[in-house]
Amino acid sequence: MAVTILAIESSCDDTSVAVLKDDCVLSNLIANQEIHMSYGGVVPELASRAHQANIVPVTHQAVMRAGIKNEDIDAVAFTRGPGLLGSLLVGTSFAKGFALALGIPLIEVNHLQAHVLAHFILEKDKEKRIPAFPFLCLLVSGGHTRIIVMKSHLEMEVIGNTIDDAAGEAFDKCGKVMGFTYPAGPIIDKLAKEGNRNAFKFAKPSVKGLDFSFSGLKTSFLYFLRDRLKEDPDFIEKNKADLCASLQHVIVSILISKLVKASAFSGIKEIGIAGGVSANSGLREEIKLEAEKRNWNLFIPEFRYTTDNAAMIGITAYYKYLKGEFCGHEITPLARY
Ligand code: KG4
Ligand code: ZN
Repeated sequence: MAVTILAIESSCDDTSVAVLKDDCVLSNLIANQEIHMSYGGVVPELASRAHQANIVPVTHQAVMRAGIKNEDIDAVAFTRGPGLLGSLLVGTSFAKGFALALGIPLIEVNHLQAHVLAHFILEKDKEKRIPAFPFLCLLVSGGHTRIIVMKSHLEMEVIGNTIDDAAGEAFDKCGKVMGFTYPAGPIIDKLAKEGNRNAFKFAKPSVKGLDFSFSGLKTSFLYFLRDRLKEDPDFIEKNKADLCASLQHVIVSILISKLVKASAFSGIKEIGIAGGVSANSGLREEIKLEAEKRNWNLFIPEFRYTTDNAAMIGITAYYKYLKGEFCGHEITPLARY
């Protein structure tokens, strides 16, 4: 018998609801919150209010587009964490109410595990290669930068982590310094395409082992611009594309050099990227070249499954459903998970 799961993601600034039938996505809706753009980052209070306004209509649409009725749903899944507590609370409470009303089980999902499992989301009538285990995945999002070894669908080991900022934060914070709206990652990506990546040199941090650090880069970028702006107040405007290309190049090289190290260390050649920053075209291109050179079996997610989405919550919940991993209604969200 097929399993139908309703999945809810509300960890940050996007309200997303998906319906999956087994590992196949039937609908995946995302309501973006544009309200944060001018603030240079997500404002938690505004995010939870927007989730409250969005969650009922987005769920309604997701169920309709999936072509099912509420009674067809076998379980409700939600992001338990990590994320903004107020935002998580909206999704968690809504999921509980929905499960209670239909008398069906509740499944809690770790948002980071879900980003990695996005590689296993299937779509109707579409062929897709999926990774074999062990699978080595670079998870790069707005809040996290990790290298993960996946031993099975639900067994993961973190072998590398950032000691300060995440790669997404490096994009967003440096973008803010250049006057871009939030999130700056996609804007930098777009401008970088017209720039020279060797125009400016920014120092790479030296961090031991498989860990990352991005806060030094952010500071050196800030000081570099401060000095140049003293000489020419229009420096950013005149060099925007080159600045973006150079910044993106250094971030991508830091990420790839650690992934190369992790592959050598673990002996794993089944390799993937996940999370919002995995949408970056520079990273996608560079990693393809690296994979060819090193004979990796490479997995790059579809754009729609890189940034936050509920389909990835649904696929994780599907594997938990198969193992009977349900949770009780006393469960609370976790800002750190
Ligand atoms: O995974 P995600 O949607 O949310 C978190 O779980 O954090 O990642 C959001 C991050 C933001 O920092 C955003 O700037 C970055 O992903 N991002 C990008 C691109 N698209 C999204 N960074 C660089 N290039 C992109 N194309
Ligand atoms: Zn995320």
